[in-house]
Amino acid sequence: MEQKYALDDVLISRGEIEKKTAELAAKVAADTPVSANGKKELIVVGILTGAVFFLTDLVRDLPEEMDVRVDFMSVSSYGNSTKSSGVVRIFHDLKTNIEGKNVLVVEDIVDTGRTFAYLLDLLHSRNPASLRTCVLLDKSARRETEVRVDYCGFNIPDAFVVGYGLDCAGMWRHLRDIRTVREG
Ligand code: IMP
Repeated sequence: MEQKYALDDVLISRGEIEKKTAELAAKVAADTPVSANGKKELIVVGILTGAVFFLTDLVRDLPEEMDVRVDFMSVSSYGNSTKSSGVVRIFHDLKTNIEGKNVLVVEDIVDTGRTFAYLLDLLHSRNPASLRTCVLLDKSARRETEVRVDYCGFNIPDAFVVGYGLDCAGMWRHLRDIRTVREG
């Protein structure tokens, strides 16, 4: 029988997210190398669906003189529960050729790291000039596979969270704050 969940406390408020996103964007911009054409070129790859919310705020905090492109991939590692299935499937691939480009992969949360590790290996095999990662939330205590996180918003404890793109069985992505859930 499917477990029911209810919203619990606010773990990270919209204000904290906003402030952190601006800080991360400033770091990303500063670290992006200048290309031969004199521009800072960056392809920002969002992992659907959860990272969309974070990505759209992050890219709008990047300086307008940067050459920023956005593309998405869709993968799945979770079913309709809060437990990892351990299976990573690609539903939608990039439209952009990332060979020789500076790429920033944006993810909402890294938990065991399995999904992210798989994706990064795949993107790395396409020979980008650089491959950096930006995650809003990191549950580093639960890591099972080593993954590179270049920019991290918040390290969070081992609790299931929803909101600002994160879901529980498809629910609660639309919340502005990041909240914990409880069984109920
Ligand atoms: P990993 O492969 O275990 O690192 O799982 C990463 C994916 O699991 C994320 O992209 C999320 O879709 C999902 N996930 C992990 N923890 C949470 C959580 O606390 N809330 C919502 N989704 C989560």
